[in-house]
Amino acid sequence: MPTLLVLLMVSSVFTADPSAATEEFGIDEKAVSYSGFQVWSITVRSNGEHKLLRQIIEQYDVEVWKEQKTDKAAITELLVAPQVQRVLKVKLTEADISYGIKINDLHTVIDNGNAKHNMSSLNTKTGHSMDWTKYHRLADIYGYLNYLASTYPSRVELINIGTSYEKRPLYVVRIFNRSSSVVKPAVWIDGGIHAREWISPALATYIIRQLVEVPANEALLCNVDWFIMPVMNPDGYEYSHAFNRLWRKTRSVTSWTSCRGVDPNRNFGYKWGGLGTSTNPCSDVYKGTRAFSEPETFATSNFIKGKASSIKLYLTLHSYGQAALIPWGYNVVYPSDYSDMLELAKSAVSKFTKYRYRVGNAAAIYYPAAGGSDDWAKSIGIKYSYTFELSDTGAYGFLLPASNILPVCQDFFPALDVFAAKVATMKV
Ligand code: ARG
Ligand code: ZN
Repeated sequence: MPTLLVLLMVSSVFTADPSAATEEFGIDEKAVSYSGFQVWSITVRSNGEHKLLRQIIEQYDVEVWKEQKTDKAAITELLVAPQVQRVLKVKLTEADISYGIKINDLHTVIDNGNAKHNMSSLNTKTGHSMDWTKYHRLADIYGYLNYLASTYPSRVELINIGTSYEKRPLYVVRIFNRSSSVVKPAVWIDGGIHAREWISPALATYIIRQLVEVPANEALLCNVDWFIMPVMNPDGYEYSHAFNRLWRKTRSVTSWTSCRGVDPNRNFGYKWGGLGTSTNPCSDVYKGTRAFSEPETFATSNFIKGKASSIKLYLTLHSYGQAALIPWGYNVVYPSDYSDMLELAKSAVSKFTKYRYRVGNAAAIYYPAAGGSDDWAKSIGIKYSYTFELSDTGAYGFLLPASNILPVCQDFFPALDVFAAKVATMKV
């Protein structure tokens, strides 16, 4: 991306909104406003059209939110800044490509996206500030994890596996039956690799709650151990709450001072730097200076490696699109046991009743992207490795309103029966 264009874009995006800049960050950074930004959805049905669209996207440096492919069409969803809306419309019309506006004013949607309610009453009732009617800040989430560890010592262990770039702790919750001493096959679940995908930590914490606090789910701990990391990228998560709702990456300083952060899902050490990654620190898919350059991906991968013989299933929660993505994602390449992976994913998503999920090879039904955590997990021998792209399919995208948290979580949880049953049969 040309440097000048970057500077222009950054300066036009940053407009004063004193409400969201908080003390805690210790810098007088202004929150980013998305007033007038739109989300467009564009369907193309031929390679020629697809090429044309790609050229337009690159020329005007438009941010791609999602790209999905079927046999007949490719659907691309774009974040369109106010200053390019007119020219984009002209270009698309010239190319005879039709488009629809999915979100008319992003600012309004962001403003309405999170529920506001008084946490102190909840706090005194339950001993923590967590619930699933709004998207919570990291302090609430971490407070809840600590609450669980001290309230249920017989089945919860809170493991601090390292610190983020900005020195926040990185937590993995181990949920298990402490009274049994055999080593069991285990499930790994992580959320919050990408900061703006708020539904992901919300679901991860919901799963933790179900496994720990709902007695009816105790059977899920009989033959399987659970390792759940609800917020893998806590710096990005906090930044997306306080300054820029659409922040995706980590917050590390790069060689280019005005552009921070690495895409953690391009930073894992398998086929690092391949297709769908960028060497440009300003890009949202910046791969970093080397594999595992980020403390978050480094700590996570080390922890998983240490448990690689017992972890049989790797699940990473993202949004959006409603799809279960199967490696390899670095390119349209299928592992030799792909059919096993497909079968398990299909039977898991068949448990969903409210939302329909597509299942398929990540590179084929989304786009090739190297350095993903799913590919890396598969590469170290974890047989079942999936990226789940949660709801929705694009009406709100990353800005899924908080009223959807519970429906999404309740729909998802039964799929874990299927995964746990499979993992229970596997030898450690
Ligand atoms: N939306 C995810 C991303 O762009 C998809 C990752 C799928 N996995 C992969 N290895 N490409 O990071
Ligand atoms: Zn993601």
